[in-house]
Amino acid sequence: MRRVTVALDPPYDVVVGAGALDELTPLLTGRRRVAVVTQEAIARPHLGPVLERLAAAGAEVTVLTIGPGEEDKNLGTVGRLCREAAASGLLRGDAVVTLGGGVVGDTGGFAAAVYHRGVAVVHVATTLLAMIDAAIGGKTAVNLPEGKNLVGAFHQPLGVVADLTLLASLPEREYRAGLGEVAKYALMPQGGAIRAEILTDPSALDARDPGQLEPVVAACAAITAEVVASDPFERTGARATLNYGHTLAHALETAGDHDLHHGEAVAVGLVFAGHLAGALERITPAHRDLHTEIVGGLGLPTSVPPGTATSAELLDLMRRDKKSHGGLTFVLPDSDGTLTAVDDPPAAALDAAFRAVGVES
Ligand code: GLY
Repeated sequence: MRRVTVALDPPYDVVVGAGALDELTPLLTGRRRVAVVTQEAIARPHLGPVLERLAAAGAEVTVLTIGPGEEDKNLGTVGRLCREAAASGLLRGDAVVTLGGGVVGDTGGFAAAVYHRGVAVVHVATTLLAMIDAAIGGKTAVNLPEGKNLVGAFHQPLGVVADLTLLASLPEREYRAGLGEVAKYALMPQGGAIRAEILTDPSALDARDPGQLEPVVAACAAITAEVVASDPFERTGARATLNYGHTLAHALETAGDHDLHHGEAVAVGLVFAGHLAGALERITPAHRDLHTEIVGGLGLPTSVPPGTATSAELLDLMRRDKKSHGGLTFVLPDSDGTLTAVDDPPAAALDAAFRAVGVES
């Protein structure tokens, strides 16, 4: 088991490994009541073991269930969770446990941030993506009809539990999509050890063996922790580096009506970003091609599914991205690997990058 500390005030740990679920008991001992926010499909395999740890902590438990999809991540769900929490008698000194992936963590985390003006929350991540990224850093949010994650708050958890045995029940496509975020960390300047691991044996993580996953997941979580601690409220731009590959990814998700899973879209977005940086001569051809090697090696798509959108449509969507300032902004590597935001790259470089991922104008 490994502990990755997020060095904020107060600090908290991401506990990574087989058996990390045991951490729930010491984290929540002394809390009178705990509301567990989860989804039916996740509760089936994982709720029982969570309830055992909460019983050992001596807490009364209420289970609150939300719907399965991104469309359930809304203010209506938050209102319902808060009303059910009130009906169960949850008070300011009690706690919320989110048990799930990004949708549960974002929605339950936001409800915890606003209920009684903020109650303690622990995230039990059940997806690879949540273990290395979404559950770390205190970002919580829900969607409006006008856009994704438009209402939210920073609310740091008491702790994050990444029990790698929970990944065994993930559908294959969802697990592999999580590897898209692993590819992102492998391609970040701090990701040398992850990169080496993937290049040595790209299929090493396919078996979901906790022993093989543990160093990789802990290394990814450590990068997130370091970046979050350096920019807790996303003000300096440091945290934007965690969005490497995400500018095109968000556009692909929207254009394809979420046919591509987030991690799959990030995978293609990384290949695109590598080619864009290459066309701008910021990185060498070998560094550019490393993007395709890492992404393809992990069994992820390296090009846009045919018929998703034209480059003009994708450019239009990227200009409307909530992180854009009206133009086009990409996080791109420099010759030493450092990631920086680049505004409005020339059309010829964009065309080359689009062609490299199979998108015609
Ligand atoms: N969880 C990644 C970030 O907070 O930016």
